[in-house]
Amino acid sequence: MTERWTPQSWRAKPAKHIPSDYPDAGAVTRVEDELRRMPPLVFAGEARRLKGLLGNVADGKAFLLQGGDCAESFKEFSADNIRDTFRLILQMAVVLTFAGGKPVVKVGRIAGQFAKPRSEPIETIDGVTLPSYRGDNINGMDFDGGRTPDPERLLKAYGQSSSTLNLLRAFAGGGYADLYNIHRWTLGFVADSPQGARYRELAEKISESLTFMAAIGVTPDTHPEMHRVEFFTSHEALLLGYEEAMTRVDSTSGDWYDTSAHMLWIGERTRQLDGAHVHFLKGVKNPIGLKCGPTMEANDLMRLIDVLNPANEPGRLTLIGRFGADKVADRLPRLMAATKKSGRSVVWSIDPMHGNTLKAATGYKTRPFDRILAEVKGFVEVAGAEGVHPGGVHLEMTGQNVTECLGGARAVSEGDLADRYHTHCDPRLNGEQALELAFLVAEKLRALRTEDLRAAS
Ligand code: PEP
Ligand code: CO
Repeated sequence: MTERWTPQSWRAKPAKHIPSDYPDAGAVTRVEDELRRMPPLVFAGEARRLKGLLGNVADGKAFLLQGGDCAESFKEFSADNIRDTFRLILQMAVVLTFAGGKPVVKVGRIAGQFAKPRSEPIETIDGVTLPSYRGDNINGMDFDGGRTPDPERLLKAYGQSSSTLNLLRAFAGGGYADLYNIHRWTLGFVADSPQGARYRELAEKISESLTFMAAIGVTPDTHPEMHRVEFFTSHEALLLGYEEAMTRVDSTSGDWYDTSAHMLWIGERTRQLDGAHVHFLKGVKNPIGLKCGPTMEANDLMRLIDVLNPANEPGRLTLIGRFGADKVADRLPRLMAATKKSGRSVVWSIDPMHGNTLKAATGYKTRPFDRILAEVKGFVEVAGAEGVHPGGVHLEMTGQNVTECLGGARAVSEGDLADRYHTHCDPRLNGEQALELAFLVAEKLRALRTEDLRAAS
């Protein structure tokens, strides 16, 4: 018997990682009611557009670049931060488009990426034990006094998401993302690095092509799309009370859409087949993601796909592998083989961050750049061997000059971590490391493209 799905029906299911220790449950309900009356952040038509573009990725005709903070925070909220993440994504997309010869679908982990699942529910510092930090929309990072969940934070997160999205829309459509501005997207601290020089060289080539195209009559006046980019938002659909409140019926199609972001994903810790998170996301029509970690077996994956994408719609489901550099070659082939053999239309993407986290001797949580790169390489190689399109990357990164991940061309060492370690949760690639990764992924994609061309001739 199929049970009736409603935006609330997840409440009858086992739900992990949703706080139940708000001091005043009535206040949570009041805040959720207030959110229900707030305007949607995105429109159903935009989510459908993204689904269409991801359908191209599933068909091997495009590539997905998804990235941004591990956790957005109230403290790091500023126009400059938003601009720097946005332009870093544009730069990386240019590098990947040029190498792969395919359009790049740009999706930020932004404008709603606040709530975090935590491995440990409590944290002890100097003999004092308190609940863990769970994201700025739930509680505060401060160890003294800030750890009690406060529902008012949900409203603040909604407001921040709304102004972030407003600025992103302006950047994407208001001229900043014009291809003729390609030289201006370089981040200050990246400019004098080897990655900056490589980017300038590429931007030069593209500018030459633009001059050529203008000469034959292709200009922004004849092709207004050269003035803008399409940019989409995403976050982990963890806090289902918030997601429920943002879920509305689309008047055009009569379907339910979660209007808190274009794309939502299910995290590694909440992907239980009978759990609340899978139940909630199966009922909304947005494109969705599913994290696939090292313990996932092919039959678990098949069952989840049956529930999450029963009509086998291209672009509906993005599988985001996150195994660890040492496990990807062992765990991924059987999952890819299963989707391929059964004809499931999915996007395969790789998150090389979450399986490669370690603790430095100094106590900082970090990730070595070499391992991040090794997992991406492993992903592309497995995909090649399985005859599957390596469709995308999912990264935790920032346009800021932070020192959170080890290595990269300007080798961040364990001793450097303390210099600019600002993340509210996991360590992010800084702008330079992210651009370097884009160049290295681009080399892999270029090699694949050469093989494709050879096979076709
Ligand atoms: C995340 O993407 O921030 C995250 C928590 O990832 P995962 O669910 O894969 O651990
Ligand atoms: Co993270």
